[in-house]
Amino acid sequence: MEKLQKALSKARQERSGVTREAPQKRAPVAPRAARPPSEASDNFPEIWQKLKPLDPDPRHLSANRIMTLNALPEANPFDVLRTKIYLLMRQNGWTRLAITSPNKGCGKTTTACNLAVGFSRQSEVKSMLFDVDLRRPGVATMLGQQPEHDIRELLVGEVAPEDQMLRLRSNVAISMARRPVSDPTQLLLSQKTVQTFDNIQAQFEPDVMIFDLPPMLVTDDARAKLKNVDCALIVARAEQTRMSQLDVCEREVSEHTNVLGVVLNNCRHMGAEEDYYGDYS
Ligand SMILES: Nc1ncnc2c1ncn2[C@@H]1O[C@H](COP(=O)(O)OP(=O)(O)OP(=O)(O)O)[C@@H](O)[C@H]1O
Ligand SMILES: [Mg+2]
Repeated sequence: MEKLQKALSKARQERSGVTREAPQKRAPVAPRAARPPSEASDNFPEIWQKLKPLDPDPRHLSANRIMTLNALPEANPFDVLRTKIYLLMRQNGWTRLAITSPNKGCGKTTTACNLAVGFSRQSEVKSMLFDVDLRRPGVATMLGQQPEHDIRELLVGEVAPEDQMLRLRSNVAISMARRPVSDPTQLLLSQKTVQTFDNIQAQFEPDVMIFDLPPMLVTDDARAKLKNVDCALIVARAEQTRMSQLDVCEREVSEHTNVLGVVLNNCRHMGAEEDYYGDYS
């Protein structure tokens, strides 16, 4: 982990000498004022009640490495990540978080689902998860669901958000895909899609919107979506993602949005002193 951090900061230093045009990032909204503690439903627009409930099978979730449904020790690493992300986003007035990676199979969907399911245990936080990896959608399979309507129908305006999204517990709305779409870049770039996400944000007033994106170095789809988020988390996979790929990915993401951080997934070489979660279990 230390090696990764050193290599990343070296790459960043080398990059800082290179002159690039300033990226055109989405303008952040003003930081939200601290909310007084309240019952979850107090600050929930009524439209949340219209969403059909989603009731995933806990055994299916854990078989798919979604560990955050209940406050068990194995949820700890993702809970820590969730809290760090939430605090950073709130501090900056950011609502939209993209999750991407350099190449495929790094653990984006696993991370996105663990964060969304973990947010369902924070009843005062309104969260949303959108499966916008439209070539290889994975959220529905990972959650063991088959939604009635596809996210494509939502994006093109064929179905209303309250009829497409499903609600996990009281406070997490999830928009899933039923099948891949044929021209994802065009769909993600279309004005209608941009407008749909703006409308959803205005109607549901979410605190956090998570977008499960495709990998950066494979297609243009992720770039198309990054223009419309406030920040991005990059997931790299230990023993699979090369440092050079991570460097290129981080540079490209930072040209479009704010890089919130890098998660090193599937890392098996954790030293005993770093494995402190056990102390609390
Ligand atoms: N930490 C981990 N340890 C072991 N297996 C993992 C871990 N994280 C993810 N996986 C497994 O790796 C596979 C790929 O994970 P996932 O689908 O989350 O990646 P992805 O980045 O979304 O892939 P894609 O680019 O295809 O969308 C899945 O089978 C998942 O269960
Ligand atoms: Mg995926």
